[in-house]
Amino acid sequence: MTAQLIDGNALSKQLRGDIARRAAALSARGATPGLAVVLVGENPASQVYVRNKVKACQDSGLHSVLEQYPATLSEADLLARVDALNRDPAIHGILVQLPLPAHIDAQKVIEAISPAKDVDGFHVASAGALMVGQPGFWPCTPYGCMKMLESIGYELKGKHAVVIGRSNIVGKPMALMLLQKNATVTICHSGTQNLKALTLQADVVVAAVGKRNVLTADMVKPGAVVIDVGMNRNDEGKLCGDVDFGGVKDVAGWITPVPGGVGPMTITMLLVNTLEAAEMAPTVARSA
Ligand code: GUN
Repeated sequence: MTAQLIDGNALSKQLRGDIARRAAALSARGATPGLAVVLVGENPASQVYVRNKVKACQDSGLHSVLEQYPATLSEADLLARVDALNRDPAIHGILVQLPLPAHIDAQKVIEAISPAKDVDGFHVASAGALMVGQPGFWPCTPYGCMKMLESIGYELKGKHAVVIGRSNIVGKPMALMLLQKNATVTICHSGTQNLKALTLQADVVVAAVGKRNVLTADMVKPGAVVIDVGMNRNDEGKLCGDVDFGGVKDVAGWITPVPGGVGPMTITMLLVNTLEAAEMAPTVARSA
């Protein structure tokens, strides 16, 4: 192995210490940061994700509520719950876990969340703010990737970053964040021709497709930073990313593992966003 590991667990632990201190300071002023997590249906992966989010809140001294509803919940009823949470002063962040059942328009639900409580950063107002470089909540996964790059002191200016994947949740916001740091950014996707020719030019590769072995050793420039956003299962049922870690670790300069890489950072940035939402909330301003 030539690559150095970017340890998401260790970095999370470090950041969560600071989060816990800031949360305690808010609590002392009677304004404990609060996150509402809404889960509709019984998707097993979603159930694990929301449990981890709620547990992370508890461990860092944030208040959290988990609202679970059957898959038959109507869109109107879900919108009514979001509206109530928007008006609840104990709740500073609202997260509606995706995917939602097919009869519910997910975008409509996301747009119903107050942008001031949009700690997922999925609202068009948040996406627009990122696009034009205005303050707003950044989606947690790409935000976590940026923190990982920052943690190794990586200077993005003038570097070529290749993002594989163009989702609204990861790929597109990731590209904008890298651009904001003056990287030259290429976004690759399922229609990209000769992916390898592009990744071989990359100083930084972010793999965010949701498919195993999207990036193999022969596609990586020696010394490149490789960030693996994937969460897949291999043939033995073990968690693995989008990157062929076994091969790429011998070529890359830095690499994030799966598990223990981007995953914990996503939850950490959710805590950061919730904390910042609470710090900006009007009740805190009044008591200051
Ligand atoms: N489903 C998978 N990842 C996420 C996430 O980060 N936020 C929400 N709300 N749903 C998801």
